[in-house]
Formats: sequence, C-alpha cells, structure tokens
Amino acid sequence: MTHRRLYAGSDLSRAVTIDDLRQMARKRLPRFLFEYVDGGAEDELTLRRNRDAFARHTLQPSTLVDVSNRTQAVELLGRPAAAPLVIAPTGFNGMLSQRADVALARAAAKASVPFTLSMAANVRLEDVATDAGGRLWMQLYWVRDRDFIRSLVTRAEKAGFEALVLTSDVQVSGGREWDRRNYRAGMQLSLRNKLDVLAHPRWLWHMLREGGPPRFANIRELAPPDARTVIDDMMTLGRNMDPACNWDDLRWLRSIWPRRLLVKGILSVPDAERAIAHGADGVILSNHGGRQLDGAISALETLPAVRHALGPDATILVDGGIRRGVDVIKAKALGATAVMTGRNCLYGVAVAGEAGALRALDIIRQETDRAQALLGVPDINALDERVLSGRTPIGFAPLRRELSQGVT
Ligand SMILES: Cc1cc2nc3c(=O)[nH]c(=O)nc-3n(C[C@H](O)[C@H](O)[C@H](O)COP(=O)(O)O)c2cc1C
Repeated sequence: MTHRRLYAGSDLSRAVTIDDLRQMARKRLPRFLFEYVDGGAEDELTLRRNRDAFARHTLQPSTLVDVSNRTQAVELLGRPAAAPLVIAPTGFNGMLSQRADVALARAAAKASVPFTLSMAANVRLEDVATDAGGRLWMQLYWVRDRDFIRSLVTRAEKAGFEALVLTSDVQVSGGREWDRRNYRAGMQLSLRNKLDVLAHPRWLWHMLREGGPPRFANIRELAPPDARTVIDDMMTLGRNMDPACNWDDLRWLRSIWPRRLLVKGILSVPDAERAIAHGADGVILSNHGGRQLDGAISALETLPAVRHALGPDATILVDGGIRRGVDVIKAKALGATAVMTGRNCLYGVAVAGEAGALRALDIIRQETDRAQALLGVPDINALDERVLSGRTPIGFAPLRRELSQGVT
C-alpha cells in the first residue's frame, strides 16, 4: 500500500486536510512546542483511543435523496451557530503565533461559531472581547482563591462572555512526559531543544519581536508582585490549583455566575447527571485531548449513554480526536449537540494565525458538508444513529493494523 505524502510547505491554500496543517505546524514550530500541542499523557493510549473511537463507526448512506440544499446550522445554548463546532479552550496559545487567542476568536467569529478562552490564555479576556467579538465562552480552572474566581467571573460577565466552562479534569496535571524531557529543572529548555529553537529562525524572530514568551494575562492578580515571566505565572497557577474542588464548589460557582454554565471533563452518566443537578446548563464530555488520565475512555464512547440519561433537550458537547468532517457527523449521529475542537485550530494558528485557524474550521466544515451530501442527510439536525451501521469493535485486528499504519 502506498504512503501518501502530506503537504508541508507554507502555502495555506494548499493545506487539503487537518493532517496537512499538522505537518506544516510541525515544520514551523520548535520541537518542544509541537510536542506540547500534539502530545498526550504517558503512553498516549487515550490520545489514540480518541481517534479509534471515531474510526470504528461505519456510515450507511441513503441514496437518491435531494441534497441540493444543505445546512450545518444548529442551535447552541439557545442561539444559532453556523455549524455544530466550538473552539476548545487551550492554554499558552501565544507561543504559537502573535496574539493567538485573538486570532482564534476572530476565526471563530468569522465562521459564526463560539470560541472558548482558556484561563491560561496570553491575552486579557477584555481585549479578546474588544478585538475579536463573536460568541465568547470563558474557561475556568479551579484555584484556591475564591476572591480571584469571583473577580474573574465578574470580569467575564462585564466583557460580555456568554458562558463559563469549568474544567473538572485537571485535579493535578497529567503525566506529560515529553514536556518533562524537553526541559531541564526549572523550566529551562534542554541544550538539544535550545539548538532546535535556533533551527527555527522564523519562529524565534517572531518570539523575540514579541519580547519573549507571553505571560498568562488573566491570572496576574494571583501572581506575587515580583512575578516577571510566564514561568512565574505557570508556577503561580500550579501552586494555586485546588485538587479539593468538588460538587459543592460547582454549586457556589452557579450562585455567582448568572449566564450559561458548562462542566468540561465529564466521562460518565452519574457525573453528567450530577453536573446538571448542581446547576450546570450542559456538559462537555472530554478527556482533555488525551492529556490527563491515560487509559481513560474516549468521550465519544460515553456519548450515547449520556444522551439517553439526560434526554433529548440537554446540551451535550463532546471533544477529543475530531479531525474530519465525518467525525462531526458521527458525533452528531450519536447525540452530540456540538463538538469542541482543540488541536485542529492550534495547528492552523501556528501556521498562519487567524487565517490558519479559519482554514482549519473551513476544512472541517467543507468535509462535513460533503459527507452530508454523500450520506443523504441535508440537514445536520436530522442525523441520528440510523446513519451508523456495522459498528466495528474497537479491538478488531485488521482495522487496528490499518489505523496504526495510517492507511485509509
Ligand atoms: C495545547 C493544548 C492546551 C490545552 N489547554 C487547555 C486549557 O487551558 N483548558 C482546558 O480546559 N483544556 C485545555 N486543553 C484541552 C482542550 O480544551 C480539548 O479538550 C482537547 O484539545 C480536545 O481534543 P483535540 O485536541 O483532539 O480536539 C488543551 C489541549 C491542548 C492540545
């Protein structure tokens, strides 16, 4: 079987798939950064499982259906979105390109889908609201200082953010071994990585022009007065993360945030039910892109049971491993209200800022549109389990071999 070559140049319009964008990002970024974006925890079992979970579902098209008018528009948190897509919160985006948080938010606004700003973002949330606009959601990590949480939440409300996303799966940081290998003690890059940075002059020039790695702009109030660098910010966040966070805290958060509240990092029916019972307006099924508990089930696998338990009207988002339009189709067919996408847009933004992020969204949307036509389902809201047939068990040997060889 032939191994097809991906595009790895710098002409964005020639990126045909997300895999092309990934290759382009790999070339542009120093290795330690590409691994930061691309990697998963420990043996990356969950990272791979996130892809396998989609691959094992087979589609069964209906033919001779009029598909001349197709739509991906959905309702999300009571408002229209052009596609069932949301940009997931990702921290430290400013390392990938200039003001990447704004670039991602602008791309989302252009595509008429929501953007989620990470608490570990490099641009202040007020500036994202002014410079990008669009539908904005704010992600929160639980920290010990409740006054800080209250002030962040108030800022997000004043700036017009429509939803708050509490990330619940970072009680402690996942085992990101590639990250540890790339640094020596004290967040100092290893010599090998320093040399690799020099081999990426475009990226280095960009970083130097920006005055070095950007700080975590939204947690300044948590940091001690002598904090100067993003390394200080990382230590601040690490020190303040609160593994004691529990369902009572969610109830408190509900009491101080008047708009939509979602809990991200749910992977079971009981937790999904508890989240709703404690005041959440919806859940985001997620294993953090395979970066936290290695060996965890993929979010997609939990989706049908959670949909069944929460009922047809609940807001249920799912993320992890979405790289193709058919993945969006499969998630919708299994009951997702929408999907969140993390790495796709990060590869894009690393390659070409806002235009790159938009390219990633466009690729997914075009693939989704094509799949709807070929599947005979012109309205994405009409998708259900009937389009899925012949579920292939996840351990099915020939399929697994093909997947591991990257052959389609
Ligand atoms: C580089 C990177 C940084 C991330 N940072 C955050 C974060 O700050 N907060 C959060 O809730 N999730 C974070 N995530 C997880 C994403 O929100 C999302 O769950 C995951 O990327 C989905 O998987 P996918 O990348 O396969 O689409 C991060 C993921 C990546 C790849």
